[in-house]
Amino acid sequence: MIGLTSVTDPTAVHQGFASDNHAGVHPDVLAALTAAAPGRAAAYGADPWTERLGAVVRRHFGDTARAYPVFNGTGANVVGLQAMADPWSAAICTATSHVHVDECGAAERVAGLKLLPVAAPDGKLTPELVDPLVTGFGDPHHAQPRVITITQATELGTVYTPAEVAALAEYAHGRGLLLHMDGARLANAAASLGVPARAFTADAGVDVLSLGGTKNGAMLGEAVVVLDPGAVRGIEYVRKMDLQLASKMRFVSAQLVALFDGDLWLRNARHANAMARRLADAVRSVPGVRITRPVQANGVFAVLPPDAARRLRERYAFHPWDAATGEVRWMCAFDTTPDEVDAFAAAVRAAAAG
Ligand SMILES: Cc1ncc(COP(=O)(O)O)c(C=O)c1O
Repeated sequence: MIGLTSVTDPTAVHQGFASDNHAGVHPDVLAALTAAAPGRAAAYGADPWTERLGAVVRRHFGDTARAYPVFNGTGANVVGLQAMADPWSAAICTATSHVHVDECGAAERVAGLKLLPVAAPDGKLTPELVDPLVTGFGDPHHAQPRVITITQATELGTVYTPAEVAALAEYAHGRGLLLHMDGARLANAAASLGVPARAFTADAGVDVLSLGGTKNGAMLGEAVVVLDPGAVRGIEYVRKMDLQLASKMRFVSAQLVALFDGDLWLRNARHANAMARRLADAVRSVPGVRITRPVQANGVFAVLPPDAARRLRERYAFHPWDAATGEVRWMCAFDTTPDEVDAFAAAVRAAAAG
């Protein structure tokens, strides 16, 4: 009901900057769903849309890439990680990673992995940060490090360069570990870097990727993309066991094809990133407002003067990020308009003025 009222009632709290998941569905995705709707197609992925998605994914990520559509991003992470690991494995992640703090322990409970979180001030792991945890091999008292999982773009709105990903992959592979990437915002990272997605995934040594669609304009749907087939075992069974095998898979695949076959994914991400930069530029000079992180993707993080966040929340929904510092997070999406950004920036200015 909140969503319904916010689009029809001008006095309702605006949902536009709380999360890129508050966005709607891109019209081209909706058109693809409509086009896929009539008629019969084989279930569980044996349909022409899923076959087409396979070809699209191979075009983006190389001939060995395999796409396994799933319902959501948590599912993509859990299925990918579980297929990469043994029941006694550990995965190293950042302390701010979605898999660690925002997936209700699914990687631990469902995939059965122990997560080893590392504090990473800019949201990015490095070999130096990871190294102290890559230990205990052969010790039956110690969960065995198996996977390093990184998020691109990160939860802090920063972006790994291809060289940074390659350094992690080289480190991981040199110690018998695998590299997993949560690409819920992969499109935003590609738009930010101005390179093909392949440059910071397959070509950089990533083994398994969660490919995001939902935040990029899909209604729902992501895919596990296996870049190195040798990195996973039994992924078809794991996906079913983890409740992520869609019977009418054509409707997940059709959405991802609509985004990734042409350049819609990139146009949507470029727009979202541009809206975040516009917002950051508009509020940077507001007295008492401090932008706390580099704005490299579609998120803006800021600290506001005392009580300003409360005043702003009377009109706009957004998430606190760090309760200790009062830092907040504002997200832009493919459907954020320049007018919305300008109105929000004006509201930030007014809230900061008291
Ligand atoms: C970094 C990251 N990974 C994964 C997800 C996917 O989450 P969900 O399971 O809600 O689709 C999100 C969504 O907020 C995210 O921000």
